[in-house]
Amino acid sequence: MGDRGAAVAAAGGGGSSGRRRRGAAAAARQPPGAEQGGGGEPGPDGGHDLGGDFRCHKVQESLLSSASGYSNYRGILNWCVVMLVLSNARLFLENLIKYGILVDPIQVVSLFLKDPYSWPSLCLVIVVNGFVVVALSLERRLAAGSLSEGAGAVLHAVNLLAILCFPAVVVLMVTSITPVGAVFALAIYTVTFLKLFSFRDVNKWCRERREAKASPRPGDGSAAAAGPKKANGDVGQSGVTYPGNLTYRNLYYFLFAPTLCYELNFPRSPRIRKRFLLRRLFEMLFFIQLLVGLIQQWMVPTIQNSMKPFRDMDYSRIIERLLKLAVPNHLIWLIFFYWFFHSCLNVVAEVMQFGDREFYRDWWNSESVTYFWQNWNIPVHKWCLRHFYKPMLKRGASKWTAQTAVFLASAFFHEYLVSVPLKMFRLWAFMGMAAQIPLAWFVSKFLRGNYGNAAVWISLIIGQPIAVLMYVHDYYVLNYEGSQ
Ligand SMILES: CC(C)(COP(=O)(O)OP(=O)(O)OC[C@H]1O[C@@H](n2cnc3c(N)ncnc32)[C@H](O)[C@@H]1OP(=O)(O)O)[C@@H](O)C(=O)NCCC(=O)NCCS
Repeated sequence: MGDRGAAVAAAGGGGSSGRRRRGAAAAARQPPGAEQGGGGEPGPDGGHDLGGDFRCHKVQESLLSSASGYSNYRGILNWCVVMLVLSNARLFLENLIKYGILVDPIQVVSLFLKDPYSWPSLCLVIVVNGFVVVALSLERRLAAGSLSEGAGAVLHAVNLLAILCFPAVVVLMVTSITPVGAVFALAIYTVTFLKLFSFRDVNKWCRERREAKASPRPGDGSAAAAGPKKANGDVGQSGVTYPGNLTYRNLYYFLFAPTLCYELNFPRSPRIRKRFLLRRLFEMLFFIQLLVGLIQQWMVPTIQNSMKPFRDMDYSRIIERLLKLAVPNHLIWLIFFYWFFHSCLNVVAEVMQFGDREFYRDWWNSESVTYFWQNWNIPVHKWCLRHFYKPMLKRGASKWTAQTAVFLASAFFHEYLVSVPLKMFRLWAFMGMAAQIPLAWFVSKFLRGNYGNAAVWISLIIGQPIAVLMYVHDYYVLNYEGSQ
């Protein structure tokens, strides 16, 4: 056995610390002198006494060398957390000394309202119901057969297109709407668009199945045999069946439910757990305050200080500002993730007794960019798979084409939600999302394991503040610089 092998064997076969402890216990049970390489065998001097009783050394590796097989770094992880807390406490103090207290909850109201007598975002949100009514009446006519499939498809397409265009036109024309109010309204319209798209698809699939059942192909014995069985199954089901689902109650349950994918009967939880609901509600209120406070106290001054280096095109200062912004931006994004995907969606689900709570999976372990996009936003990912990706694959598109199409569509919506409210078309958000395609290819080809995981984290930590700074800089130049 070589040096390394001997060392590994001495450390318990190179296994875990538990195995080494068992090895030590076994050694302790042996008679004195038979331990630590004595083992009852004659020594190199042919059995002469080497002073075995007085030995206190054995061949072994230092814990930090990889040959030791040691892997318990729990204390180091705690140290990282303590250092993180301490260094951020210093940053927090520095920020307070430099800027004083900037947190102002009343200012948040002004982000939504320019004029207290004009509430354009709220009006927009109310008007979205008109598009919902149109979608439902189209589906009712299609179910009754008073509208052909072709005409129904065209009218649905017009309605869906209007859901995206109408609010955009209003936001661009109405001067009293604020960027934050506009983002809120456009987000509601985008969600409604995705939901009504899903509603239309599922009802179409139901009609196709109904027609297939009604007209079994001649000579298709199996279909005929399956007919009565399926019919029995349908009758026996306690949930709603097509077209009984085409009611306002059913559609509005879906519109408020925390999912983008329609089903006739959603899985329901048996009761509302009051303690769970109160905990999530408390988190929801606490984290939104924290988010607003961190943005006002930490993000805004850092962004404001970044404008001069951008104006002077001072690259080293721009990078320094970018790295400075990366910390609060990332922290805010993480809190936002927990606030929205865990607290808010669970509150809505609990109140509506909506059973499927898989709003996210373990994206933080992503070793590839594709894994991240499959796991961080499950409602959107599910919608993409069910209504875009798989239908494209079924129509014969290659996997690569379908993936690219999904990411470009997602890029469009990201851009739509930023550019329209800011009334400024720069394509930074679009490019950020579209860049996920080459990034995914690069990471999967060249990086594995922890390196892949680090690449995903770096792209999140650095990528977002780049986009934020780009937009803020352009918005600043467009709206304030000319007026100075
Ligand atoms: C593009 C995207 C949908 C690809 O998803 P993916 O999970 O990597 O896709 P995969 O190729 O692994 O296949 C997924 C499914 O399609 C199925 N599939 C794959 N090839 C198929 C084919 N040729 N025919 C039919 N089905 C196929 C797989 O079996 C799998 O099914 P399952 O979900 O039931 O297991 C995903 O990356 C995505 O959602 N991207 C956008 C995310 C986004 O923009 N989010 C915004 C958040 S703000």
